[in-house]
Amino acid sequence: MTGERSAAETVSSHLGDQKLVVASNRQPYSHEREDGDIVVNRPAGGLTSALDPMMQSAGGTWVAWGSGDADFDVADADGRVSVPPESPAYEIRRVPLSDEQVEGYYYGYSNQVLWPICHIDPEKMNAEEGFWNHYQQANRAFADAIIDETDTDSVIWFQDYHLGLAPRHVREERPDTFCMQFWHITWPSWDVFQTCPQYEQLLDGLLANDLLGFHTERYCQNFLDCAAMLPDIRVDRATRSVVYDGRRTFVRPFPLGIDAVEREELAESTEATAFWNEFREEYAVGDTLAIGVERLDYTKGIPERLSALERFWERHPEWRGEFTYVQKASESRSQIGAYRELQGHVESEIERIDDRFGTDDWSPIVYLNEHLPKEGLAALYREADLGIVTPRRDGMNLVAKEFIASQVGEPGVLLLSELAGANGELGDEAVSVHPHDTKGFADAIEEALSLPQADRERRMYGLKKQVRSNDVYAWMNAQFRTIEAIRRGREIAAESPRGR
Ligand code: G6P
Repeated sequence: MTGERSAAETVSSHLGDQKLVVASNRQPYSHEREDGDIVVNRPAGGLTSALDPMMQSAGGTWVAWGSGDADFDVADADGRVSVPPESPAYEIRRVPLSDEQVEGYYYGYSNQVLWPICHIDPEKMNAEEGFWNHYQQANRAFADAIIDETDTDSVIWFQDYHLGLAPRHVREERPDTFCMQFWHITWPSWDVFQTCPQYEQLLDGLLANDLLGFHTERYCQNFLDCAAMLPDIRVDRATRSVVYDGRRTFVRPFPLGIDAVEREELAESTEATAFWNEFREEYAVGDTLAIGVERLDYTKGIPERLSALERFWERHPEWRGEFTYVQKASESRSQIGAYRELQGHVESEIERIDDRFGTDDWSPIVYLNEHLPKEGLAALYREADLGIVTPRRDGMNLVAKEFIASQVGEPGVLLLSELAGANGELGDEAVSVHPHDTKGFADAIEEALSLPQADRERRMYGLKKQVRSNDVYAWMNAQFRTIEAIRRGREIAAESPRGR
């Protein structure tokens, strides 16, 4: 039995007869028009692909933005469609959003206000007036769809920063449901969060949940510090909970993991080996390989990494012709100026560095921005001697974990930013770097490349153990176990003579 199967069954066993309603901005399946036909796409996002098997096993409804251009042609009048198309097991309820709403709610408030603030870069905030209005409207639309799909006894699981207000609306109409939310990005300190003009309304929205999950203990503490600033609130540090508006919200860390078994299998597949053989031929890479994989997002620290690599080749000419860095990048949110600028900057920097050090038969940096099959990515992770994961700020970072799980051959080394949430779990066995310390970063590349085999083996063994035991299924189960514990606690309190 794979980890996926057993864990998915555990979530349904926690649920019993209760209906599960998941709500996220992105959907697990979209319908798109292609050459006159309608095709089904499965967005490659880690979260949607991890929750899909759980939904297939537990059943229920997943409420999400209907972003595909044929999404509503295949859905019923309420936007419902059964998935997976080949053997329906649960329903998606698609929320229709107009172009203007998408502009204001997704590109605007979510990604130009909340995203930079939570990544502690408030200078990048663009708090245009209309954005907030659209964020409110979209959260209302999500909440209406959720309310429609919910029984009194349902468990509603909100995902991420796009849905900061929806829990309050749902709570008003469905007071007895269990609402929880997992915040997939960093939660900043109060000084930073306060820069958000609507901090009060957002805290009010989130505190309609019974349980709030973050990746790390630090983010939980930051959230409690922010909540403490609201009027008429009681923050109970001992139980990490908040009493507000007549309800108690528990705040807990649940570090997100990956499906480690699936990644290992992909890395061991014959398709991965075939991909690697072709890749090596096509790109004439050096004997030593490093890899970086990210969306083109300014939080990921790609320009900072390129500077460190440039310094490394400058100081260590002996590695020229020997050591190749592969940057896999995916275009992201490119309607936003800061993202478009980053994309242009990264591409021109890579060109410049390649011109500076490259030779007829070797390029220092190989830039891949096309789609890669899962097995192709697994092959690159597997063959890499260095995985370079050096965000300026990241809530967790699952690429670090994917690299580790895919290292099924000769052990490589993980270079990991101090500013990634994953550093708390993986920092001891990785080589930690500070993304803004170019010299220290370049030295760390050299240090990692020179680690003796026994040292690399020991580190990778520890990293693998961590990634396997704290996988995505452990993450889900910990949350569902916490729901049970909260409910038991409430029952006991209700039965005791003093009541709640
Ligand atoms: C982050 C967020 C996710 C989001 C993903 C991709 O990981 O936490 O909620 O789905 O980025 O970004 P996108 O804007 O394409 O959904």
